[in-house]
Amino acid sequence: MIDSVRRYYDENAEREWERLFRDPYHMLEFIVTMHFLEKYLPKEGLILDAGGGPGRYTIELAKKGYDFVLLDLSQKCLEIAAREIEKAGVKRRVKRIVEGSVTDLSEFDDESFDAVLCLGPLSHLIEREQREIAVQELVRVAKKGAPIFASVINLYGVFRTVLQELPHEFIDPSHEEMFSKGIHRVSWHKHEPGKGFTDAYFFHPNELRELFEKNGVETIEMATCEGLSSHLQEETNQIYEDKRKWKFWLNILLRTCNDPCILGLGEHLLYVGRKI
Ligand SMILES: C[S@@+](CC[C@H](N)C(=O)[O-])C[C@H]1O[C@@H](n2cnc3c(N)ncnc32)[C@H](O)[C@@H]1O
Repeated sequence: MIDSVRRYYDENAEREWERLFRDPYHMLEFIVTMHFLEKYLPKEGLILDAGGGPGRYTIELAKKGYDFVLLDLSQKCLEIAAREIEKAGVKRRVKRIVEGSVTDLSEFDDESFDAVLCLGPLSHLIEREQREIAVQELVRVAKKGAPIFASVINLYGVFRTVLQELPHEFIDPSHEEMFSKGIHRVSWHKHEPGKGFTDAYFFHPNELRELFEKNGVETIEMATCEGLSSHLQEETNQIYEDKRKWKFWLNILLRTCNDPCILGLGEHLLYVGRKI
């Protein structure tokens, strides 16, 4: 299963590098995540970016003076990360680039990082046990009191995406597991190679919170990355053209993105906790 996820990100590595900057709508994920990173990261220290892909967050935060270990499943994403880290002039800040899985961080000692990021990978572990192991590993390598940031794909956000883009999936029997258990399988696309998403698990916000809390983490805050803009791509991209309106809307998004009444609606969900 992990092999198909690796293959997907190897094949889509350049697209993954572009993803967060495709258009203003997609930039919201980066803007909101950076907002919370800047709010809760310590002033300095060594950060593990687990599942950091081509390194957007590693690079942005390395420019601000943090040291990094970047880990990812995809060799191709890591090659792009190495290229972009060099280009950005932050090579001395990135101590190691490691190919590996969040489910096995055994090459790192307990309590070795001042902060841990896991932005994406938990939504690619379709077995519950694997998600548990990954969270235990992320918590183990964090220092006591260190912030832990995790982002995942929102279950109800996916339902709304299907309504918007793929309504035939509602009545496709092979997709039943997605609506009942939040599981998407790459095997559904076996007749259209190279198409469709890879293995994925979509979370309800309460489940993400519980997963961390039962593994020694105190919840600080949760937020939806696209918030009130979620699924309104055209409208969001349009408002970007007028910088005053864009600034106004961003303020509203940042003010409301942690409101429990909309947490589950956005496409992506961010969890911020602290190791107890
Ligand atoms: C949606 S991308 C996010 C990349 C980056 N964290 C970001 O937010 O821009 C998900 C990343 O998680 C990686 N990934 C998926 N499963 C993983 C696992 N078990 N261990 C480590 N990385 C994994 C993928 O290779 C991919 O680079």
